[in-house]
Amino acid sequence: MEKFYALLKNYNKTNTSENLPDWTKIFSESTPPVYWNILSNILCNYSKENSVFEIGAGTGDILALIRSLGFTNVTGVECDAHLAQIANKKIEYFFQKSNTVIHDRYPLAIPRPNILVQVNCVYFENIPTKQEYINQLKLFHQNAMPDFYFLEVVDSSCKEHFKAFPDFVRLSQEDIKAAFKDKSVESFTTYQFPRNTSTKRLYLIT
Ligand SMILES: C[S@@+](CC[C@H](N)C(=O)[O-])C[C@H]1O[C@@H](n2cnc3c(N)ncnc32)[C@H](O)[C@@H]1O
Repeated sequence: MEKFYALLKNYNKTNTSENLPDWTKIFSESTPPVYWNILSNILCNYSKENSVFEIGAGTGDILALIRSLGFTNVTGVECDAHLAQIANKKIEYFFQKSNTVIHDRYPLAIPRPNILVQVNCVYFENIPTKQEYINQLKLFHQNAMPDFYFLEVVDSSCKEHFKAFPDFVRLSQEDIKAAFKDKSVESFTTYQFPRNTSTKRLYLIT
């Protein structure tokens, strides 16, 4: 993973585009984000035959990482046309595969993936309450019916005020276990305030 990250970081530094959101800068830093290490350590042990779908693919960095691990059936969706274009260009450069990222808004009809990935993302457009936010996560899961769901959320232990993360998107381990009560749930801390701008937790729901 370190070897690929070095190539990706170099690509990102030399292919900068104006008007990129701030969060894209983390893929040009000297070390990969924590959720990358956790995700790749787990995925390393999975069969590379598994199909992967990412919700909110951004500039394609996670999909590129997953492809670099040996998974070839890898696709995603990104609602921002400019970002989807950057993601596709990046994956084409590294893996000679076009149209990996669909420009659309999830949920949409997709072939059932084995692995569903939703990381480094908090989507709450038109959602005013915690229950509706949780319902959306459940809907995202039900729409894909994956074997493995990697879901990163802002943790309820994070009490500082951030406009980008209203209180109702901050979930506890109990919230996730209750939402997916017929599933097995494991979790890992990814970001930790004040070292990072918030505290987040990556869940593996199977
Ligand atoms: C913070 S970025 C994270 C990108 C990527 N997952 C990563 O870890 O780098 C979240 C992305 O999700 C996209 N997004 C938000 N809601 C979406 C939806 N319902 N369908 C598709 N993309 C969405 C946003 O446009 C944004 O690019």
